Amino acid sequence: MYNDYLCFCDIGRVRRFRLAICRWLICAAAICLPFVAVSAEPALIRFSHVTSETSPKGIGAKRFKELVDQRLAGKVRVEIYPGARRYDDDRAILALLLDELEMAAPSLSKFRPVSRRLQVFDIPFLFQDLAHLRRFQEGPSGRELLTSMEGRGLRGLAYWDNGPRVIATKRPLELPGDLKGSVFRIEPSDVTAAQYRLLDVVPIALPFSRVRDAAITGLVNGQENSWSNIASKRLHNYLPNLIELDHTYLSYMVVIRASFWNELAEDVRAELEEILAEVTAEVNRLALEKNKAARAAIAASGSVKITEPGPEQKSAWKAVLAPVREQFADVVGRELIEEAARIAAQSN
Ligand code: SIN
Repeated sequence: MYNDYLCFCDIGRVRRFRLAICRWLICAAAICLPFVAVSAEPALIRFSHVTSETSPKGIGAKRFKELVDQRLAGKVRVEIYPGARRYDDDRAILALLLDELEMAAPSLSKFRPVSRRLQVFDIPFLFQDLAHLRRFQEGPSGRELLTSMEGRGLRGLAYWDNGPRVIATKRPLELPGDLKGSVFRIEPSDVTAAQYRLLDVVPIALPFSRVRDAAITGLVNGQENSWSNIASKRLHNYLPNLIELDHTYLSYMVVIRASFWNELAEDVRAELEEILAEVTAEVNRLALEKNKAARAAIAASGSVKITEPGPEQKSAWKAVLAPVREQFADVVGRELIEEAARIAAQSN
């Protein structure tokens, strides 16, 4: 009996003790939780790119940061590393894979180490014009390519335009044979390398940050790029013969580290997607404007010759470069090439 009484007393004491602890914990949580929530660091997006801050991509990156600051304050923060200040594109892709970077927007020709299929965009004369390229990128194949590198750690969020590539050389240039024996800087794409080999040109893959020096020192005597990139690096001063073949388009994929993306809250991801859709429309409009202005400024500089090939001249280039499509059909995927051709036919 006495033992039972003692037992009840103990149980009572234990219960009171537990209750006190619970009350204390609840109070402590009530005091600390707001501070925990306030002091949680916003997710940091480190965004690297290689062009200037006034290029379409540079302005796009800054606009992306502005909108994130406005709409996701306290949840996400963006730091931009422009002009290859921290990473060239090949290193940026590596940094994304090594968790040292969250975002980049490399040219589609730079993804060769991660995806061979993206080289479909480098096949000469596959896309007839910018509208055709846009239809492909916004269609099922283009959307599938955005998510095709997830297994390798990258998720594509958007395509950004720059513009048609223009070939610029030191030598007079009109027909494909004029390039024989030249040395060209190219982006690191097997398809682009094959294109130049068909023209009897030696291709050297170099980062964008090295193109100007390579042209000045004579390491290369030719390269291809958009008007805005040629103007920003003043490449026309060293490579003054330019031809507008519209054989390929310089276009970017905005990519984010997949592991980072998957850890973000769903509402944050949705807001980032919305922001990117707005910025993409702005970048694409700017790209048209900037390339037009850059072409006009280069033409007005007086010391260049710009060739706009007529139909016969263009056919000669197409004939020489035609084998690239079959040579890379199995590498990039025949279905992608067929889809591009089908969409071209639809638009006519
Ligand atoms: C870029 O526009 O991002 C660079 C393209 C190049 O490497 O030529």
